[in-house]
Amino acid sequence: MTEILDTQVGTVRYLALNRASKMNAITRDMYARLAHSLNEAAGDFGVRAVVITSEGDHFTAGNDIMDFMDNPPTSDSSEVATFLAALLNFPKPLIAAVKGNAVGVGTTMLLHCDVVVATPTANFSMPFTSLGLVPEAGSTFLFPALVGYQRAARIFMTGESFGPEAALDMGLISEINADALSAATKIAEHIAQQPPQAIINTKALLKARHHDSVAAVMRAEFEIFAMALQSDEAMEAFMKFMAKKGSS
Ligand code: COA
Repeated sequence: MTEILDTQVGTVRYLALNRASKMNAITRDMYARLAHSLNEAAGDFGVRAVVITSEGDHFTAGNDIMDFMDNPPTSDSSEVATFLAALLNFPKPLIAAVKGNAVGVGTTMLLHCDVVVATPTANFSMPFTSLGLVPEAGSTFLFPALVGYQRAARIFMTGESFGPEAALDMGLISEINADALSAATKIAEHIAQQPPQAIINTKALLKARHHDSVAAVMRAEFEIFAMALQSDEAMEAFMKFMAKKGSS
């Protein structure tokens, strides 16, 4: 069974994380499929918006920890780097529907979306430091730009999670809706009816201010992240996760 469901209704493409038994933790294969679909959607005149969503009760528990241990990404051509590049450069409206846990990249990818709708159950967290890692996906630039330095530093350094009300207050999401997917669909369909070139130009203008800075920060984060993955601090944190798994 494919772990990324890729479907299209009209001119809206849906990419759904479909690994609910593992809380939609994202593997290398899933990153590669997401990157491929985003790049394909970018060049497809028949696609006017993409909705990222999930099966099951959660958005995602972030990067698959076992994958991190077995196959740590080391280069720009790794699956996760390819996905992040596709996300940064995606030229069309990107809308996310979030429910339950959105851990790690599950939260940082939202910083690249144009509209995010979340359910009242949504819980956002970026526990990179608790894992001996550093934030990624350009989040060390985008998150403080969104919420201010201190709120960003506090969340990154404590690893504390936050709910949809706080996310709304921060501007990380723009709506709380019990049926986030329907709400996201409505917004995507509305946008898809607008003149497409005007939408693409508007997104390019909105993103232009930060694009090159985000790309540079992403590269720096990736370098430190790749080193941190091999560190004793990360190994200890991953072992702790494995031990919890083994004892449950
Ligand atoms: N990588 C791989 N597997 C993961 C995972 C991850 N990031 N997150 C959850 N899973 C798996 C669990 O191992 C478990 O699988 P199992 O039933 O085969 O043992 C299943 O998904 C359900 O997760 P579980 O931990 O039992 O759920 P929970 O409700 O007790 O806890 C979390 C939820 C999100 C708090 C917990 O799963 C967690 O801390 N996950 C790691 C999150 C993380 O650090 N992500 C990386 C960010 S860079």
